[in-house]
Amino acid sequence: MLEEERKLSSVDIIVSQTDLDGFIIYANPIFYKIAGYSSAKLIGENHNIIRHPDMPKAIFKILWERLKNREDVYCFIKNRATNNRFYWVFAYIRPSFNKDGAARNYVSTRHAISNKARDIIEPLYKEMLTLEKSQGEEASEELFKNFMEQNRYKSQSDNEIMHNIQY
Ligand SMILES: Cc1cc2nc3c(=O)[nH]c(=O)nc-3n(C[C@H](O)[C@H](O)[C@H](O)COP(=O)(O)O)c2cc1C
Repeated sequence: MLEEERKLSSVDIIVSQTDLDGFIIYANPIFYKIAGYSSAKLIGENHNIIRHPDMPKAIFKILWERLKNREDVYCFIKNRATNNRFYWVFAYIRPSFNKDGAARNYVSTRHAISNKARDIIEPLYKEMLTLEKSQGEEASEELFKNFMEQNRYKSQSDNEIMHNIQY
């Protein structure tokens, strides 16, 4: 069955907060409206409840490595909503810390992906997914890392590259 796209408006901001294992502890009303769940249904679920099968595994591997390394991460995600729908976001995900410096939880804010970014990221993820199926996750991760190097201007950080792609 053909999937239907849900588009975020330019003012929509999706917010979620998870514990250190990625289980949702807070979701704002726009999150549950777009994803098609009630808030009670989302709280306590693993964030992968909205994982879309078109997302390469390597993207989440890199995301979690960076979060565990206490970094904040910008990334593009295609998400699944209820009733065979999907929506794309430009996500900012970061750890928050206790006073003693230990990681407390993770917070994510998400906006609509730009058309410019969509044109670049969608074919890249398709290629990564095909590689994951034929050669495995490492080959797909390698492709993503090469893509980042090709898009790195001088000593830009990964987050700056993502910003350049979005805007
Ligand atoms: C704060 C936070 C927000 C996340 N947001 C998403 C998201 O919007 N979509 C998504 O598929 N995964 C998101 N993830 C990653 C998921 O935890 C998970 O790694 C991913 O869905 C892949 O699931 P899997 O490892 O079970 O395959 C988020 C993780 C954190 C910590």
